[in-house]
Amino acid sequence: MKLEPLTTIKKMLPLLTKYKAMILTHYSSFITHILSTSTPAASSPLHPSPKGFIGSILRRKFRGYCSNRGVMASSIKVVQNPDTISYLNQREAAEVDEILMGPLGFSVDQLMELAGLSVATAIAEVYNVKDYNRVLTICGPGNNGGDGLVAARHLYHFGYKPFVCYPKRTAKPLYTGLVTQLESLGIPFLSVDDLPINLSEDFNILVDAMFGFSFHGTPRPPFDDLIRRLVNLQNYNEINQKRSVIASIDIPSGWHVEEGDVVGDGIKPDMLVSLTAPKLCAKKFSGTHHFLGGRFVPPSIIDKFKLHLPPYPGTSMCVRIGKAPQVDISSMRENYISPELKEEDVEPDPYVQFQKWFDDALAAGLKEPNAMALCTAGKDGKPSSRMVLLKGFDKTGFVWYTNYGSRKAKDLSENANASLLFYWDGLNRQVRIEGSVQKVSEEESESYFHSRPRGSQIGAIASKQSSVIPGRDFLHQEYKDLETKYSDGAPIPKPTNWGGYRLKPDFFEFWQGQTSRLHDRLCYFPREADSTSSWKIKRLAP
Ligand SMILES: Cc1cc2nc3c(=O)[nH]c(=O)nc-3n(C[C@H](O)[C@H](O)[C@H](O)COP(=O)(O)O)c2cc1C
Repeated sequence: MKLEPLTTIKKMLPLLTKYKAMILTHYSSFITHILSTSTPAASSPLHPSPKGFIGSILRRKFRGYCSNRGVMASSIKVVQNPDTISYLNQREAAEVDEILMGPLGFSVDQLMELAGLSVATAIAEVYNVKDYNRVLTICGPGNNGGDGLVAARHLYHFGYKPFVCYPKRTAKPLYTGLVTQLESLGIPFLSVDDLPINLSEDFNILVDAMFGFSFHGTPRPPFDDLIRRLVNLQNYNEINQKRSVIASIDIPSGWHVEEGDVVGDGIKPDMLVSLTAPKLCAKKFSGTHHFLGGRFVPPSIIDKFKLHLPPYPGTSMCVRIGKAPQVDISSMRENYISPELKEEDVEPDPYVQFQKWFDDALAAGLKEPNAMALCTAGKDGKPSSRMVLLKGFDKTGFVWYTNYGSRKAKDLSENANASLLFYWDGLNRQVRIEGSVQKVSEEESESYFHSRPRGSQIGAIASKQSSVIPGRDFLHQEYKDLETKYSDGAPIPKPTNWGGYRLKPDFFEFWQGQTSRLHDRLCYFPREADSTSSWKIKRLAP
């Protein structure tokens, strides 16, 4: 298979999003809480703060560091082929619920809570809290309406500003309890008359929680009017290019559960969150974001209904089904929000400053904070970058290990000048380091080589780094042969063409992302003719 380089990069974009997401997923709920409160996050049973040293770092960091990517919008997006996924008809959907709430021991409250949480999570995955803050949830009298009420509560805790229109309230304790919970959060309940004719004037997201899979027939007042308004809203959006969106829970209200939008003049939601398993009408969904939520389906139901459902990633409550949204790369940008980086706050010694920032990156739990881009250029002057892992640093320089026959090694043998770049996403920080490079001593390389796992030692010998090889199998065969050769457990000799490099810096830049591209850049230059090797700090324009 031949892949064009650009095609390969495009294919890798979702993976990049996924990796960034993994970091933020860990902290997203914490960050969200911080964003959603104007006062500092207090520890409470509902919002326990992380404890101890890491906790204090996280509190310190994540109060200050975030980007307005949308907080939750960063989470993992997994795309599933819709053709391989099972869809339920109305009878099967009802049967699944009956089994869950019968022999399997679930209560309706539990299922509603998990459904509403899935919906809120899916919304937050796609629509960032800054640009899509005002959410109107339109709730019907049944379970679908209950899911909407729960979703509104979670969206509140995710930092959104929810409003609820619940014109036909159900008098059962489950529903009155949900209303009380929302009222206690100060979430406004709006009557149909309170709503503007054009819903997109006041709201960024309209959650359609009117009718679920058990509904049949024709919607009656006031839901017929509300559905009409959602349809009109789309026409209005098209004319005015206004960015208000509709998210339907399980079934777009007014659609036939199996046939979809039969007449063709119904709601066309931008997002559909199918619950438990998609219903047949979801095949007709043509919006951008189809998610599955309701991560509680046990294997017995999967087996009974022969369901093919996508696996949920990590701890996520929802998973994307269908096409990945088309991304306009030119519109992808972050607005960094971080504490200011002032001259008086940084250390006079850049090594100490680096240690501080490195410790912050560690404490924030970033993946491989020691990964750095190494840029070299040989005698032809053509620069070349690749990632390597920092394996140590002190006043003598920054060390990494590699193959002395590689392209970078060839470059460095011709031109010792090189640069290192660290980017710590999640902290909105980058560090640039420039200087000249020398090989570390053989003893240092020996000692590090033998500290590595045996597999890595064999791998280092097997790979003639940067040389062309006939295929994957070739490498694996080399590895196998070496594994056999060294199977007696005796020490593996370090190959002579493998070892470390040390870059001795003559320049550092500490970069802290800020709003409106007014980033902080503090640079360290060695003081000229100064035998004490002190540094002067200068600020550069961003
Ligand atoms: C996160 C990350 C860390 C890496 N660490 C190293 C490393 O420490 N040493 C190394 O030789 N290659 C490392 N690599 C692989 C290099 O990026 C590169 O593919 C390899 O060194 C060959 O580069 P060259 O042909 O320019 O010499 C790493 C790659 C990644 C993505």
